[in-house]
Amino acid sequence: MTTVLPRLRAETITANSLKNITSSLDSLSPNQQLLPLTAIVNPRDRLEIGGCDVVELVQRYGSPLYILDEVSLRTACQQYRDAFTKHYQGRSQVLYASKAWSCLAVCAIVGAEGLGIDVVSAGEILTALRAEVAPSLIYFHGNNKSVDELSYALESGCTIVVDNWHELKTLDHLTKEQSLSTSFIEPRIMLRLTPGIECHTHEYIQTGHIDSKFGFDPNEIEAVFAYVSESSLNCVGIHAHIGSQIFELQPHQDIGGVMVQWFKLAGEKYSLKFSELNIGGGLGIRYVESDDPPSIEDWVKTVCAGVTDAFVTAGLGLPKLLCEPGRSLVGSTCVTAYTIGGSKTVPDIRTYITVDGGMSDNPRPITYQSKYRAVVANRMSAPLSQTVTIAGKHCESGDILIKDIQLPETNAGDILVVFGTGAYNYSMASNYNRLPKPAAIIVEGGESSLIIKRETREDLLRQDCLPERLRK
Ligand code: LLP
Repeated sequence: MTTVLPRLRAETITANSLKNITSSLDSLSPNQQLLPLTAIVNPRDRLEIGGCDVVELVQRYGSPLYILDEVSLRTACQQYRDAFTKHYQGRSQVLYASKAWSCLAVCAIVGAEGLGIDVVSAGEILTALRAEVAPSLIYFHGNNKSVDELSYALESGCTIVVDNWHELKTLDHLTKEQSLSTSFIEPRIMLRLTPGIECHTHEYIQTGHIDSKFGFDPNEIEAVFAYVSESSLNCVGIHAHIGSQIFELQPHQDIGGVMVQWFKLAGEKYSLKFSELNIGGGLGIRYVESDDPPSIEDWVKTVCAGVTDAFVTAGLGLPKLLCEPGRSLVGSTCVTAYTIGGSKTVPDIRTYITVDGGMSDNPRPITYQSKYRAVVANRMSAPLSQTVTIAGKHCESGDILIKDIQLPETNAGDILVVFGTGAYNYSMASNYNRLPKPAAIIVEGGESSLIIKRETREDLLRQDCLPERLRK
């Protein structure tokens, strides 16, 4: 049993610190922690993650730097897997929603932990395949898959989660064309349906309400089932995803009850023998102290109870139950280290402290007004003496990473570490203002390894072309 000592500053990390003193790492739900599970303050008064001193990591790999804690990621995968084994009598499969962070190392780890992968583009399919995830465990989503992407997914043997009529018909057509070829593999598909379940989260990341661009509208379902039953597509089940960063359990409790009626209808009226039910992802994580997400186990337990109740009541056998978490698997496992530059005090208003990254490596604050917590990693026990605003370096006033955070006195060159940056940070990163994307490393047992190289200035020009007539 590993305990997390000495303690992180109580003022900054309160609830977790106290919990961690007595808990072993694998009993903590990573999504409920502000920091990765292995985070400690070392005797040099610095933040250490995975047995590595964060300040030394920045000296070695440069700044800004994404630092992924392998123990946290594996623990989250195991908790999802084990919770299904414990709370569900039927078969189950957890898929990692790789849109949260699609890269070889993350896909390889989740694959090695027995998870499959949810992908939304040919790029994510390629990444999962190169990370040696079995095609039978890759599920392809998206509301406007191109013919090229569909063909690639079909050739690779992924399951396609069909989102709309256009896609259904294109796929049917492609399948008929390809069925003449000797290498033809009958495509496995699922149907994404809009369940009409509302949840409380940012409106940009709600997806299960009726006015959503994703999935078939409930009014169309009978027509869709009729079409599928006449087609050459092998439809194995249905899917719904209601949104992201959700703290309530009720919407996920309800999803089984909504989906079972369609499962039943498909079998009874259209002779479609569904075996799989995918209830999406959406469990939230703790970004700031006031966030209070359920644990991974409680979420799984709720989903399993809802689905079991609904299917038993409907007199149906339990389906193979799939879910596809992204944020709650990878979000809390990673931090971003920045180097502090200058500061500016606007009298009686605020002090801005600037870091060497911002909206290009973490677009979530400017996009969703997301809140984050941070510490000065090279002086962990210094008293919190000022309230400041952390500004990014981009030419955009909205490029503010954290508003009104309490920090110790800071100097240029200090290392600021922002927590909870594993999900939708690297994957949504851009080169705005032509900033190269930071490097990402993984840490475990005192060892660190590069998982994504830092982009160079030359990399930024790699795709640029200067037509001859424009040259001097
Ligand atoms: N399944 C489907 C079909 C999805 O659309 C999503 C997320 C997930 C699973 C995974 O949801 P999660 O477990 O990560 O909540 N960029 C936004 C989040 C967008 C989520 C998109 N879909 C953010 O930074 O908050």
